[in-house]
Amino acid sequence: MKVVVTRKIPGNGVKMLQDAGYEVVVGEQDGPMDRAQLLEFIKGADGVLGQLTDKVDEEYLNAAGPQLKIVANYAVGFDNFDLPALSSHNVIGTNTPDVLTEAVAEHAFALIMAITRRIVEAHKLARTQSSSFGPEVMLGMELKGKVLGVLGLGRIGSRVAEIGKAMGMNIIYYDIKQNPDFEAKVGAEFKATPDELLSISDVVSIHVPLLDSTKHLINADRLKMMKPTAYLVNTSRGPVVAEAELVEALKNKVIAGAALDVGETEPKWVPGLVELDNVVLTPHIASATNEARSAMGELAAENIIEVLNERPPKTPVKKP
Ligand code: GLV
Ligand code: GLV
Repeated sequence: MKVVVTRKIPGNGVKMLQDAGYEVVVGEQDGPMDRAQLLEFIKGADGVLGQLTDKVDEEYLNAAGPQLKIVANYAVGFDNFDLPALSSHNVIGTNTPDVLTEAVAEHAFALIMAITRRIVEAHKLARTQSSSFGPEVMLGMELKGKVLGVLGLGRIGSRVAEIGKAMGMNIIYYDIKQNPDFEAKVGAEFKATPDELLSISDVVSIHVPLLDSTKHLINADRLKMMKPTAYLVNTSRGPVVAEAELVEALKNKVIAGAALDVGETEPKWVPGLVELDNVVLTPHIASATNEARSAMGELAAENIIEVLNERPPKTPVKKP
């Protein structure tokens, strides 16, 4: 059987597939495979270990052929999957939950600290002038005692809430499901609407999946509900934030700043964003630790091995 890995990955994932006896073909290109190349590359595959930049739709499934049994996404998010198309082709989709929770939550916190303490601005300043103490130089915001609003209390949002708690923050959250056990454990408070959360948070961290219902969840109106001293952090999916409206809000100091790991128009940022001083940007690297990226490859490989042996996968995607 043939397994296609659409981009090089760290860790033992590829070796696990080879050891399982499959013919394994790995895309050696730098960057995502372009569409025409991808459709050619997956032809005849029984399983694909694919990237979140690979759109898995009718066209993809037809190009792969009827022998395809599984597409294992090298990501926890799977908004690149057309789920009805997968089920109509009897192809199983899997993702990589849990193994990247810590990496993403820690990165969200790295962004929270970077934007509130102006680390990137200060780094630029330190490089252009001699380092010197000044009573009014680069004043930022302390986190202890401030309100951390977690939008989406899944695995990652929960871990961000725990880290915030450890920093002495007051945790509030919004989710489609209230979670009393978590509230008791972490001392978090549920807000029944995103609007309520936005109006009282000092830092808002987004951890919802991208769905029709979460696209542009944060738009100009909702940014206006936030405190002018508040910060927005997004490590989920770019289109959850209407980014052109965010750029306007940042220019006009509607909010104090934003830190983003994901963009609405990846791999490019929306016009105007990179010129602003009150933003910190990282290029979709929240899960980029050696630990997480190796474990993601291994979990994706395990899912493929299970399905090609006609066993249920460990982490099938679930309709959100
Ligand atoms: C990365 O964005 C992921 O969904 O794992
Ligand atoms: C993703 O793993 C989430 O549930 O937050």
